[in-house]
Amino acid sequence: MKQTIYDIDSRDSRPGIAFLRVDYNVPLDRSTNEIIDDARIAATIPTIRYLQGLDARIILCSHLGRPKGQVVPSLTMSQVAKRLELMLNEPVKILTSFDGISIRGEVNTLGPKSVVMLENIRFVPHEESNDPAFAKQLAESADIYVNDAFGTAHRAHASTVGITHHLPAVAGLLLSREIQMLEQVTLNPERPTAVLVGGAKLSDKIGIIENLMNKIDQLLIGGGMAAPFIKAIGHGVGQSSYDVDQVSIASSLIDGAKSNNIDIVLPIDAIVADAFSNNAATKVVPISEIPDGWILMDIGPQTISLFDSQLQNAKTVMWNGPMGVAEFTKFASGTREMAVSLSKRTKGISIAGGGSTSQMIHDLGLTNSFTHVSTGGGASLEFLEGKNLPAINALLDKP
Ligand code: 3PG
Repeated sequence: MKQTIYDIDSRDSRPGIAFLRVDYNVPLDRSTNEIIDDARIAATIPTIRYLQGLDARIILCSHLGRPKGQVVPSLTMSQVAKRLELMLNEPVKILTSFDGISIRGEVNTLGPKSVVMLENIRFVPHEESNDPAFAKQLAESADIYVNDAFGTAHRAHASTVGITHHLPAVAGLLLSREIQMLEQVTLNPERPTAVLVGGAKLSDKIGIIENLMNKIDQLLIGGGMAAPFIKAIGHGVGQSSYDVDQVSIASSLIDGAKSNNIDIVLPIDAIVADAFSNNAATKVVPISEIPDGWILMDIGPQTISLFDSQLQNAKTVMWNGPMGVAEFTKFASGTREMAVSLSKRTKGISIAGGGSTSQMIHDLGLTNSFTHVSTGGGASLEFLEGKNLPAINALLDKP
């Protein structure tokens, strides 16, 4: 168990200046550069408010995109800071220096509870290389380090790991909730447990399936990753792309599931298209009849009803990955309907993770109907695969 900001309070030591690593790597519209989904910003407000309650001055630090150590003007934090100002109804000043002593000097000119935000930390090449001197320099800005950046917990960078060697380092409220919620799936889930996985490739999800295999009762499979399973049970998949070696992996998962009494539920129908395009011609076909030359683009209506009824009985449901090519509106219905279906569950816990899965839930305004919607993409995947996340490991353990 890791220490959290509640442990600061119980030690009754006021934090002074808190360096708060957040993950404000929010999706931006490709043409307008506007923030498309601000859920990652909103999710950190409780930690900011809690630290303000301790009279801390707060230095927020995040990356945005992958500027690779260069200053990329379109990836400045300024619009993120503006969005946070609206949410907090308080000024959030951007600081362009990454020198700890000068940041500390600047922050000390502001009152207790004030919030500043560093520029995009990945503008500095030493961030991703976890340069020890840079981490030490960052640490000089603050008295305590708080990590609320669950989405970046799988990265060992200067602001996520290096800095923890120089400051007392604890988890924020979002990070500790993410750990607590995802552990409800990975450690000892309440049974029956169902896992709904989707996404383009089986290879991206195999780690989750293998890690959870002995803890679940049902595995429901949608998205492009269903193709090798459909091949494995002897049907054609038309022009759908899949790696040939994934078919034997799918076969052994089916066999492994049988011997472990796990029910694998595959799509029974699909929406197929004559091209990989939002303007393609489409039809609904049984899964055993995907025509030559057509591509599997989404689960069909009968599969939606089947998955819906199966998921209502589970006490724990974990969902990761879209059911079809959800970035094309024409092929988003499977993912959308699964979000609606899970939001209507009246008992048990429903947890979702993964970038496009979470974004669909937010877009539909259904976030509050889930027990938890993870803010992590790659990080939630690695957590569910049972991997140790370096930025979590680096935090202080509870005594
Ligand atoms: C994410 O969005 O998954 C995190 O912010 C990590 O981003 P990265 O994959 O660029 O490290």
